[in-house]
Amino acid sequence: MCGIIGYASKNLDSCSVALSCLKNLEYRGYDSSGVATSEQGKINMYKAQGKIANLEEKIKDHEISASTAIAHTRWATHGEPSETNAHPHKVGHVTLVHNGIIENYSDIKQDLLSKGMNFVSETDSEVACGYINYMYEQTGDKMASIKAACDEFRGSYALPIIFDDEPNTIYAVRKNSPLIVGKSDDGNFVSSDVSAILNYTNKYVLLDNDEFVKVTNDNVEIFDSNLNKIEKKVDTATWSAVEYQKNGYDHFMLKEIYEQPKVVKNILGKFYDDIDFTKYDNIHIVACGSAMHAGMVAKYLLENNAKIRTTVEIASEYRYKENLITPSTLVIIISQSGETADTLAALRLAKEQGAYVLAIVNVVGSSIAREADKTIYTYAGPEIAVATTKGYSSQVATLTNVALTIMKQKGLLEDSVMDTFYKDIEKIETLAEDLINSRDMYKAIANKLYTHENVLYIGRGIDSASCMEGSLKLKEISYIHSEAYAAGELKHGTISLVDQGTPVITIATVDNLYEKTISNLKETKARGGYTLLITTENQNVDNIKDSLDDVIILPKVSEFLESLLVVIVLQLIAYETAILRGADIDKPKNLAKSVTVE
Ligand code: F6R
Repeated sequence: MCGIIGYASKNLDSCSVALSCLKNLEYRGYDSSGVATSEQGKINMYKAQGKIANLEEKIKDHEISASTAIAHTRWATHGEPSETNAHPHKVGHVTLVHNGIIENYSDIKQDLLSKGMNFVSETDSEVACGYINYMYEQTGDKMASIKAACDEFRGSYALPIIFDDEPNTIYAVRKNSPLIVGKSDDGNFVSSDVSAILNYTNKYVLLDNDEFVKVTNDNVEIFDSNLNKIEKKVDTATWSAVEYQKNGYDHFMLKEIYEQPKVVKNILGKFYDDIDFTKYDNIHIVACGSAMHAGMVAKYLLENNAKIRTTVEIASEYRYKENLITPSTLVIIISQSGETADTLAALRLAKEQGAYVLAIVNVVGSSIAREADKTIYTYAGPEIAVATTKGYSSQVATLTNVALTIMKQKGLLEDSVMDTFYKDIEKIETLAEDLINSRDMYKAIANKLYTHENVLYIGRGIDSASCMEGSLKLKEISYIHSEAYAAGELKHGTISLVDQGTPVITIATVDNLYEKTISNLKETKARGGYTLLITTENQNVDNIKDSLDDVIILPKVSEFLESLLVVIVLQLIAYETAILRGADIDKPKNLAKSVTVE
């Protein structure tokens, strides 16, 4: 949520370098963007509403030779997307960009207004800027004034800051919003994430909460929360800048869908025997959005097969309720980014309440990965599209391994189950690739969906969990309203939405639930619905042909793997539908990739 970059350069290219890095962060927010530059000791600001391309267009006629620059791409929290609310903000001697939310900004603002200060924007960030400026005017000490202000701020912030009288130095601090420092021979960076700077350097330092940094073009100094100077390890990123390119695909989302078969194949089949799962008799899976849906899929595998009671909780709810954690509760936190604010807060709460926390995370070195008792990385590679695809599948694949590990440790894993599982893992990559390559099939279905404003997804058992993910994919990228329902629950209210032509997508891959699900499909057909059935090759669909408008037949694989095929179909239906509606696939409106605010 909001991308930030700061660069102090040995050359006069800070502005162009900062903007090229900022483009790699656009997935974090794209309501407006801006850059502050130090040009011959003077701070200039350039801002534009909308995407970073608008900012580039705006500054293309300026000859900018900047030794230092801080830049920002915004996901609006306080105040509408506008140039006035865009960052950077400048008050007095201080210019800054901000990612996060200062929760007590109104009180601070009232106080500053009463002291005669004026604000031009509606943002909490300008208030933070004003407060640091106020403290600087009192103390004359830059680092001390930032610290004094941070002592008052509640909430989350990553704040790169430039002072008018020291325009070639970037000061920065972080709390609950990510910030790293990048080091190169040509200069030094601060950034929301390492991916942004990979074209320039792969050497970086992870900052922890309440750490401060002072960056010039040839020096980086890091300080702890008491402003004592500290040394920190310099890491080397193992990903290359190429992984952050579209590489010929029309969209990052499509590229990431195509990467899925390899990603899941690499994960599946591992046992996590370094964790003694027999110590636990119940699991809380806590996550947001698609990561929570991955947990829903896993719940069926964990309860039906590993025989362990599993509750799946939305992190924003979990963090504010009584969760009845006992010594035999295992908490599993799932997050692609590893920075989701609610998920991170839920992790902290669970730890405070004495739970052992296992995290399943993609981004190496992220806050959740660092704070969990144990982290299993999914190593899905960078995910740039806002709508997750390979991130989700990698979570499901990892949780599948967890379920199988528990079965093994409890003596519940039969050889025949393992034989089918391993045999199918060998085939899964090819089967998934074949499904992805059936693009014409999804395009034909998208043609029937894209003019509708409501779509229903129904299924039973593990398929009902896949429905939730399919429905979310459709609504977030095509802006069609959709609902996912456990098929048996439909007639308790929601079936009233089915009218002539209402699309109903039914998933029926679970053998013992097939007939019941088909009955539910028929109920929607009887009310005029357009019916698409997604099922497996072992089911006889000939005798229900009259009830079907379309059918997609999937290969039959182990029950542990089927949902990984189902979701590919759902992702591509959403993708092709969104294309027909002319939507912005990789950057859907109102969304951002990494949700670092509550
Ligand atoms: C949907 C999507 C979101 C994320 C959610 C959690 O396509 O991407 O629902 O799944 O914001 O994000 P992470 O996994 O980064 O915690």
